Amino acid sequence: MKKSILCLALATLGAGQAADVHAQATPAQIVSALENKFGVYPGERRNHTKGICFTGEFQATPEAAELSRSPLFQGVPVAVTGRFSQAGGNLHIADHTPNAHGMALRFTLPDGQLHQMAMLDIPFFDVATPEGFLQKQLATTPDPATGKPDPGKVQTFKNAFPETRRLAQALADQSRIPAGYHRLSYNSIHTFMLENTEGQTTAVRWSFVPAEDQPAYLSPEQAASLDANYLLQALQTQLDAGEIRWHMQITLANDGDPLTDPSQPWSGNHKVIEAGILKLQAVNTGADAACRSINFDPLRLSDGVKASDDPVLQARSPAYAISFGKRSQEASLAQ
Ligand code: HEM
Repeated sequence: MKKSILCLALATLGAGQAADVHAQATPAQIVSALENKFGVYPGERRNHTKGICFTGEFQATPEAAELSRSPLFQGVPVAVTGRFSQAGGNLHIADHTPNAHGMALRFTLPDGQLHQMAMLDIPFFDVATPEGFLQKQLATTPDPATGKPDPGKVQTFKNAFPETRRLAQALADQSRIPAGYHRLSYNSIHTFMLENTEGQTTAVRWSFVPAEDQPAYLSPEQAASLDANYLLQALQTQLDAGEIRWHMQITLANDGDPLTDPSQPWSGNHKVIEAGILKLQAVNTGADAACRSINFDPLRLSDGVKASDDPVLQARSPAYAISFGKRSQEASLAQ
């Protein structure tokens, strides 16, 4: 109600006055803002454009089965098709650019259901709403005159979405230059609801934490001599040397934890359970690699896992569908 009154008030403003940056952002506007900021690489994703496909296997623990009846958590080995990625729509971004990084997973469950996750190596999101995501893309689009974002627009965005300060502060001491995709922890960021066979529901967030405790990020000096595509080589080298594994850790919500705001961390002590092990088995770089034609829509979930009402989570699905539709059509026209 408060928002509608605000929007009505702003709609009556005359030309030249500030647009309502909190007005609802449509998925089409968001994808178009990404295209405008980064350009379009026909046949490629509009966000997280540069990436590497992989296959693997996931096996859950009995503790996970107590929380969710999903076939994902019943302890049977489950085949995984995945993709690591750099955030943003630049297909040629150098791997040592400070950035957020993604791990997307598609689990093909024994009963034929598909279950998907698309996570990031940041602990929580920078904005609380899809409107914030849209306004960030608009404010950080390079000005054609300078080739850089307009600092005034960036400041206006930060003032309108003050929650962005929280992530900036949390990451202030990190270079964000990855030592390897296998060294990073990936987080669900959103809250999901697990439902078990007794019908009990538990609000959770989860993380995939590397089994080997090695530094995740490089200093700019360490990264200076690395090739622009070193992340692929780093993965292959590690795979040749031994196993690459992550522990899935599920964090249970405490009373009062925010369940619909991805920009707010859960603070204080929480119960965390070991939910399973993800093993990376092969990296696939060919044009026909399976992950290329997957839409890792994070709302594609199996019975026993439900999405929360987080507005950012809910906005992702239609935006991914638009990006997927465009790139699929472009890929088929190119054939
Ligand atoms: C309103 C917020 C967001 C929008 C509009 C958005 C938009 C997109 C789009 C359009 C794609 C490309 C989809 C495709 O062509 O297949 C994408 C990919 C991706 N996004 Fe988001 N995103 C948002 C928030 C998030 C959040 C919160 C996370 C993590 C929790 C995330 C993680 C990823 C990952 C990992 C990929 C790459 C998936 C792949 O490898 O195919 N995004 N995003």
